[in-house]
Amino acid sequence: MKFFADTADIDDIRKLAAANLVDGVTTNPSLIKKSGRDFIEAVTEIAGLVKGPVSAEVVATDHAGMMKEAERLRKIGSNIAIKVPLTPDGLMTCKALSGEGTMVNATLCFTANQALLAAKAGAAFISPFLGRLDDIGQPGIELIADIRLIYDNYDFATEILAASVRHPIHVLEVAKLGADVMTAPPAVIWQLFNHPLTDKGVESFLSDWKATGQTIA
Ligand code: G3P
Repeated sequence: MKFFADTADIDDIRKLAAANLVDGVTTNPSLIKKSGRDFIEAVTEIAGLVKGPVSAEVVATDHAGMMKEAERLRKIGSNIAIKVPLTPDGLMTCKALSGEGTMVNATLCFTANQALLAAKAGAAFISPFLGRLDDIGQPGIELIADIRLIYDNYDFATEILAASVRHPIHVLEVAKLGADVMTAPPAVIWQLFNHPLTDKGVESFLSDWKATGQTIA
């Protein structure tokens, strides 16, 4: 499973990249707001740092407007994936861009039928939002399972990009279901290392090692 960083914070991305923990990046208008950065500048910097897909979202709501914004965004680099909302105009844009060889990430997916539409429109990625479904009392994980089943039934090439991932259990569950990618805030990715027995084990090995009086030359 590929790991994408769900952030527009370049320092966080750099740290993950140093640990080989970032296969791509996803941004959205809220993350750009949080970063306080200029959108084009931030995405250009990220796309230069990370080799894998970097999602940049359009904000127009009509097809012509989305195409115009996508035109600007895809000039940033060949690893830019244009993020479009799962609306009729969004999927019309998806079809047009995918036909021209541009990666599209269909976002704000909350049903398996929406994911089916995105695959038929040639999306490179579908982004089902787990956490936001959990927030309203609908198990987000069931959506991932349904999409996996449908995409496998028809051999769709669209990659399942599990989004709105909030904690390590989400990561574990989507990995078990065979999501192709998961995108999570950097803090959640670092949390994957955590286990008290690992910390305890390191501590006791170090103390025993110290007692030997040896050094590794
Ligand atoms: O990848 C989509 C993500 O940014 C949304 O996450 O936590 O705002 O639902 P969240």
